[in-house]
Amino acid sequence: MTAPEPPLALLAEITHRCPQQCPYCSNPLELNRASDELDTETWLRVLAEAADMGVLQVHFSGGEPTVRKDLEQLVRRAAEVGLYANLITAGVLLDEARITALTEAGLEHVQLSFDDSEERGADRIGNLAGGHRKKIEVARLVRKAGLPLTLNFVMHRHNLHHLEDMIDLAVELDAHRVEVAHVQYYGWALMNRAALMPTRQQLDDAAAIVERARERLKGVLVFDHVIPDYYARRPKACMGGWGRRFVNISPSGKVLPCHAAETITGLDFASVRERSLKDIWESSEAFQRFRGTGWMPEPCRSCDQREIDWGGCRCQAFALTGNAANTDPACEFSAHHAELFALAEAESGAAPPPFIYRRIGAAVQGGDGARRDDETVESRAGARARRPVALP
Ligand code: SF4
Ligand code: FES
Repeated sequence: MTAPEPPLALLAEITHRCPQQCPYCSNPLELNRASDELDTETWLRVLAEAADMGVLQVHFSGGEPTVRKDLEQLVRRAAEVGLYANLITAGVLLDEARITALTEAGLEHVQLSFDDSEERGADRIGNLAGGHRKKIEVARLVRKAGLPLTLNFVMHRHNLHHLEDMIDLAVELDAHRVEVAHVQYYGWALMNRAALMPTRQQLDDAAAIVERARERLKGVLVFDHVIPDYYARRPKACMGGWGRRFVNISPSGKVLPCHAAETITGLDFASVRERSLKDIWESSEAFQRFRGTGWMPEPCRSCDQREIDWGGCRCQAFALTGNAANTDPACEFSAHHAELFALAEAESGAAPPPFIYRRIGAAVQGGDGARRDDETVESRAGARARRPVALP
């Protein structure tokens, strides 16, 4: 067996703690508690291991990574070992002193999430009063510190009508890049899918808005546009292919091919507490399971797209069909594709149910995740969505 190429980037999910409670969060329903988190020393070792094996970038994420008091130490280590350090944050805990300290430690880029162009809608999504105002202040401070800024716009049925205003806000805040990212339905977002799913018309309008803005703001703002899988004809090359370009480490130290991989039951993920990052990347069973094309069933096996989209997303295939080795239902060649499209149309056409907000300790998901033969895509995801949340 030849060793795989090293990953390009490490997504370091250093905590699941977060002052916001966004219903579109893609974190797993079973969130790690503070007591489960890797300690500073282990993260420092792992960052050095990542650089040694050839990783180029580290994205500090969560949860809300600024919850961790040792973030400056981790950024400093990343810079020392030559990793490009990016911070993916909701911003609501940052102030000028902390941004200065992170910049001095070697932070090179900030990705700041925004939920709307106006306060009421934004604070409702994050379930945090004053969150929107704080983000605006933080965006200005990030630019004042001289750091390049990307704004992440997470789009859904409740804010798509404000997309143009959100783009204007990005220009006003002197952002370099905007990610117009429609919700991807994993974790909490899957449970809130009916509350978030846009209509096809909303999606088409958004695509036209992005295209016009891209043209109008050439040289000012760069756009990435991620469309929701449920309306796509072909799946996205999720993570650039399982175990190919990205490696993810969960707050408790599990090494994962993507942020949602723990939702796939029956796969055992090794931990950096026990093994080196390189060893896990190269030889752990979970990384081997869906790496490359050898695992693919038909229609992927003989499809000319198989080394372009790598069969789509394993987590989505598992969530919607009960078998992670199935073709992603976002693909038009999947036997489940028509069902998925119909589901998106039905959910987006009905009145939205209330949000189920993300909370640590909310026991929500029972069962083994296996799909029974008589289950449809709708009954499986719908049952999950209706499961009540036990408040902590
Ligand atoms: Fe991609 Fe498989 Fe669909 Fe071909 S059949 S487009 S490889 S998901
Ligand atoms: Fe896990 Fe796509 S999110 S493979």
